[in-house]
Amino acid sequence: MKVGIIGLGFVGLSFASVLGSKNHSTLGFDSDKKKSSQIKNGKPPFYEPHLEETLNQALRKGLEITDNIATIVKSCQIIFVTVGTPQGNDGSINLSMVKSAVEEIGKHLKYSKNKPIIVIKSTVVPGTALDVLLPILVSKSRKKPGKDFGLITNPEFLRESMAISDTVNPHAIVLGGTKDRFMNAIKKFYENLHKNTPIIATNNQTAEMIKYTNNSFLATKISFINQISNICQLIPGANVEDVARTIGLDPRIGHLFLNAGPGYGGSCLPKDVAAIINFSNSLGINPLLLNAVKQVNDYQLKHVILTIKRAIGTLKKKRITVLGLAFKPDTDDIRDSVSIKLIQSLLKQGAKIIVHDPKAIENTKNIFKEKISYAESLDDALRKSQCCVIITPWKEYSKINERHLQLMEKRIIVDTRRILNNSKLKMNYYPIGIG
Ligand code: UDX
Repeated sequence: MKVGIIGLGFVGLSFASVLGSKNHSTLGFDSDKKKSSQIKNGKPPFYEPHLEETLNQALRKGLEITDNIATIVKSCQIIFVTVGTPQGNDGSINLSMVKSAVEEIGKHLKYSKNKPIIVIKSTVVPGTALDVLLPILVSKSRKKPGKDFGLITNPEFLRESMAISDTVNPHAIVLGGTKDRFMNAIKKFYENLHKNTPIIATNNQTAEMIKYTNNSFLATKISFINQISNICQLIPGANVEDVARTIGLDPRIGHLFLNAGPGYGGSCLPKDVAAIINFSNSLGINPLLLNAVKQVNDYQLKHVILTIKRAIGTLKKKRITVLGLAFKPDTDDIRDSVSIKLIQSLLKQGAKIIVHDPKAIENTKNIFKEKISYAESLDDALRKSQCCVIITPWKEYSKINERHLQLMEKRIIVDTRRILNNSKLKMNYYPIGIG
């Protein structure tokens, strides 16, 4: 079955690259012409481990990039929609990209004999497929759902920095739709692609809800441990690492997503928690727990700033090094990164900022331009620094040694990830979560 993929961001490009590299006939489209031509030339527009080699393999095998949605609608039996659904000002999600992708599909479907399965991978709030997207498809195409096309909701769970391996080996496949031949066909497609992955078939609205439930539960785990971490920090000698490791041994709890830190960031968790809160409010439900998850996360940045102030007093004119800009290691993505918010706040309070990140410097320059200094090496970042704040746990930061500390004007380290906790370095050390 020929596959079309509309939207070549993290999800779409990873999926297109994996399918193409497995010789699967795949057509990719992105409305951003610059991005699309970069991809055609084998250059991913963002950094993601193993993506570049997988993309190039795919381009040699099954993947083609097209500038024309019509070609996809005419020739593909399965059309995946993987465009972004960014956050609006009130926390709701902005459906404009997914709506216009579906509108385009509908327009071309009108003149086509093809009977495709249209699969929504973009994250959308419950009800979107049936109440918003289906009416667009029907009115633009003048065709019948269930007869001329199928509409399936198929949320994606891949993680940035693990996008390729998560695409090759997903933990589950969720398919939301009606029990009909389109559902059977997409099930078969996935059964062939992932031999041992559980496939959950349900309706569209439940599939949409599963995605939000998954991400808001992950966010809840993080906010929970951050709350415990802040309590630990006030108990002399208490250590959140030991607490998390031990409760993680209880199989009912599990050890993943219990790393206390500066709060969750990235393009998904903050956006999805805000969207499900907004959605719940629209239903007349006050989502007390989810509101608290968000509040704890928003507070965590303040907690880091308070810890910095405890370490160095006033921030005015202090030379502060921020290590790590990406929202997590092995990506250059700074969307909703805590580092960026921290720098904005430190600048407001008069600090001088020098930053380092192995991958995310260029993206950060677009935000702060000349307002901060960018270090090319850890040495440059720490030279004459009066305080170093570790935000993103890149591996190389755990190798900070005596020689690095000698470069600093003051040996003060605020470590939001406790990566230097077991070192014997002589420093004034302020780890988050350790009392
Ligand atoms: C997340 C979901 O994990 C993924 O399933 C979904 O498809 C997209 O959103 P991602 O945004 O790539 O993936 O990053 P993730 O690894 O979940 O981390 C999100 C944030 O939480 C990061 O800022 C990370 O530092 C933070 N985090 C994660 C913690 O602070 N502690 C943890 O224990 C885990």
